[in-house]
Amino acid sequence: MEKLVVTGPTRLEGEVTISGAKNAAVAILPATLLIDGTCTIENLPNISDIKISCEILEKLGAKIDWIDEHTITIDTRNISTTKAPLDLTSKFRASYYLIGAMLGRMGEIEVGMPGGCKLGARPIDQHIKGFEILGANVSLEKGTIYAKADKLEGSSIYMDIVSVGATINVMLAAVLANGTTIIENAAKEPHIVDVANFLNTMGANIRGAGTDVIKIKGVEKLHGNSTYSVVPDQIEAGTFMLAALATKGDITLKNCITEHLDSIIAKIKEVGGHVEDYGDSIRVWCDKRPKKATIKTLPYPGFPTDLQPQMGVVLSLADGTSVINESIWESRFQYTEELNRMGARITAQGKTAFFEGVESLHGAPVYSTDLRAGAALVIAGTAANGETDIYNIEHIDRGYENIEGKFKNLGANIKRVRE
Ligand code: EPZ
Repeated sequence: MEKLVVTGPTRLEGEVTISGAKNAAVAILPATLLIDGTCTIENLPNISDIKISCEILEKLGAKIDWIDEHTITIDTRNISTTKAPLDLTSKFRASYYLIGAMLGRMGEIEVGMPGGCKLGARPIDQHIKGFEILGANVSLEKGTIYAKADKLEGSSIYMDIVSVGATINVMLAAVLANGTTIIENAAKEPHIVDVANFLNTMGANIRGAGTDVIKIKGVEKLHGNSTYSVVPDQIEAGTFMLAALATKGDITLKNCITEHLDSIIAKIKEVGGHVEDYGDSIRVWCDKRPKKATIKTLPYPGFPTDLQPQMGVVLSLADGTSVINESIWESRFQYTEELNRMGARITAQGKTAFFEGVESLHGAPVYSTDLRAGAALVIAGTAANGETDIYNIEHIDRGYENIEGKFKNLGANIKRVRE
């Protein structure tokens, strides 16, 4: 078992390069199943979710060559089975994208219910509704999803809930369907635009990604034979921006798209941080204690739930009492108990948490309850006095490339220890 040991307090200073977006990459990889050929994908984050995605594709018959640690060439001409390996698909959430992609490619898929962070109920009814409207039969037996379609027919689908996963999954299924599919009330996250851009580069006809109406005109085939670079990760970027605030530091982020960070920039300024925006890089610094704030998580372009725990660290240290309302995931305040062990004063009640700001945190043994909670604990440990031992770091490794290396380069005293 490995843990991260962080000894603080440290004021983080310097430059960090942002990796490719996990939540785009975990959709783009299964999307390659729609291609009858080869393609090259660059700027993949070097994280465990990507390694598992590649293993799954290989088990289905894809051939993957690693050009370097961020680039693969993938050949999906010889997909040989429609049964996804349960031991691997149960490890992460994005395995649900195999359903849309394989329905499009093979007309059939058998896959275990997806795993991933325990953030409360994570239904996939909107995905299933979309597939059924396109003409698929979907059933769930003993934890396995069976989906089958003779031919998918384009149609109009209104999403009852704004869902990132359902929007992408239905888009995947519609790319090779007969006729036009219209997704209304679609999610608008940058990774949705990125998946659409990838598919269009490979020969798909998708318009409107990034708005709440997406139109997909079915095409005969995707030709592949192209190279695509994954968009920078706006959540990793936001994590470092908030780390600058929590440690009263000064960090410049390279390789980011600052347009994707508007809601975060706005909140950083509101709590007294400073931002210099250069378009593809951004400097964030803070020279005094952050001010209190009120935050509600919302689908993009609102404040992202995936940065809520990291913002929670900033507000734990703010002057005054702050409030966060979590509107996406019912169990995303589990990290608050861990921060309280470090001296924070947080009361979480259902979807709302109250942060009575303290002057400083102290080190403690803490448990990463999910991916973003883990990132928040790394920030908290860097800001806190003394030693923080962070356990369950496999959650962090799922979504952050070389987190200890990046924090260390900014001055943090952090090491990975095998116990
Ligand atoms: C994606 O999850 C991300 N995961 C999550 O990131 C992120 O928190 C979430 O979007 C919201 O931004 C990936 O992209 C792999 P949703 P997803 O469908 O697609 C409800 C991280 O830390 N819902 O947009 O599963 C659902 O319960 C992770 O990187 C239904 O009711 O999220 C939730 O309340 C964690 N029925 C809301 O919609 C459905 O069929 C939004 O979920 C689908 C969703």
